[in-house]
Amino acid sequence: MTARLLVLVSGSGTNLQALLDACADPSYGAEVVAVGADRDGIQALTRAEQAGVPTFVHRVDDFPSRAEWDAAVTGEVSSYRPDVVVLAGFMKLLGSSYLPALGARTVNTHPALSPSFPGMHGPRDALEYGVRVTGCTLFVIDDGVDTGPIVDQRAVRVEDDDTVETLHERIKSAERSMLVEAVGRMAREGFRIEGRRVRFGG
Ligand code: GRF
Repeated sequence: MTARLLVLVSGSGTNLQALLDACADPSYGAEVVAVGADRDGIQALTRAEQAGVPTFVHRVDDFPSRAEWDAAVTGEVSSYRPDVVVLAGFMKLLGSSYLPALGARTVNTHPALSPSFPGMHGPRDALEYGVRVTGCTLFVIDDGVDTGPIVDQRAVRVEDDDTVETLHERIKSAERSMLVEAVGRMAREGFRIEGRRVRFGG
């Protein structure tokens, strides 16, 4: 059976593209059934449209409250009956409607090695701290900021001449291969959460 993936995005969508490319091979075991965003005019939405995938946009500013935005996102995502939801550069925290409904099947990719450097600026914070190794983390979301049970991680060296941009690009390259590999296994094998650990297999 082909697993149904729904991807939420906010930016350039290179992680989304990696998933779309992987899904082109039937043996990957998954298809992207929809792509959602919290803003218009982003390259990620263009990538989805070019792949013929349905898209939707819910902007926080268009709702009377954050809770109503969260409920609208929850309803729309649920309507596609996804097996796995991938937050691929989605720059919003999901809240009290979303988490009980879909949190356990939603993974997020973060450009740092958790539990170090949570939040919006993982590459910058790692560079400023002076670590020699950073990386990326795929985790199942919970109500914290980048704190959920970890599915996989990849290490990336920090080079002497790195800027935030060069470091983030090297991390994103590791992120894409981590994401494609781990989401493929989640799709084909299933997964379960045991405390802090995520196990592949039904
Ligand atoms: C990734 O590094 C993600 O972890 C971070 O933003 C980047 C998104 O890149 N939060 P893209 O939109 O997939 O190209």
